[in-house]
Amino acid sequence: MTYTTILTETRGKVGLVTLNRPQAMNAFNSTMLTELFDALEAFDNDENVGAMVVTGNEKAFAAGADIKEMAEASPFEMITQGRVEKWDRIRGIKKVVIAAVSGWALGGGCEFAISCDMIVASESAKFGQPEITIGVIPGAGGTQRLARLLGKQLAMEMVINNRTLTAAEALQFGLVNRVVPITGYLDAAIAFAEEIASRAPMAVRMAKDSVNAAFETTLTEGLKAEKRNFYPLFSTEDQKEGMKAFIEKRKANWNGK
Ligand code: CAA
Repeated sequence: MTYTTILTETRGKVGLVTLNRPQAMNAFNSTMLTELFDALEAFDNDENVGAMVVTGNEKAFAAGADIKEMAEASPFEMITQGRVEKWDRIRGIKKVVIAAVSGWALGGGCEFAISCDMIVASESAKFGQPEITIGVIPGAGGTQRLARLLGKQLAMEMVINNRTLTAAEALQFGLVNRVVPITGYLDAAIAFAEEIASRAPMAVRMAKDSVNAAFETTLTEGLKAEKRNFYPLFSTEDQKEGMKAFIEKRKANWNGK
């Protein structure tokens, strides 16, 4: 597949997508958004890939939706083109996606990063929702996900008053998993993804699905969802192998079945 706004490669069992519109601070135009999700879906369907990393460049992960592309759009065009629905494709990805964020993660860039399963940030990462400064609000999930991830007060401040979080603040508030020096953030994210890719694939998939259920529903329904994911794992060869390996005091050899 040939892409014009992203770069893709595999490193071992990790599928890597690099957002590649540096001239526009990696702002998401329609093409980049489509290509990003096409690439993630292709990796999701590739049995040689166990986990994915999405990154930008050191200065910008992504500065949001492309303002120039939508500045003159009518509500009719925005609705009929499903401009913000397009971002929901991240919810269909079953393998783990890690965002490796350096520099600006603003607007849709922040929203995409927090839609991923985990975030590795460089010390220069900055997270914010500046839509209010251009007369709109986040449309790719920012109001909902930030409120769930950070709580009401901080989410309000970010979306209403353009509060930007430094990498250290994002770590302190639990928005990112780890912060590493700028020279090593991508390698750290890839190593993290490799670790996940080396685990029993169906268990990883069920674990992701179960944690995500916590953001969708009540505790009672979420516990039911967890059980629905837990029991079928006993039909996998990897469950038998994992428990046998523990008892035999050896490393498990997963076959993904
Ligand atoms: N859309 C389109 N172009 C963008 C862009 C965006 N979101 N962000 C940056 N660019 C472009 C700039 O227009 C500029 O292009 P030119 O060279 O042609 O002028 C180029 O990228 C470099 O940007 P700057 O000169 O502004 O670079 P800087 O280092 O001075 O500032 C920045 C960097 C702080 C990221 C600044 O560019 C900025 O504030 N960008 C906009 C951030 C924003 O408002 N994002 C929200 C978008 S709306 C959204 O995302 C809605 C949603 O929920 C889906």
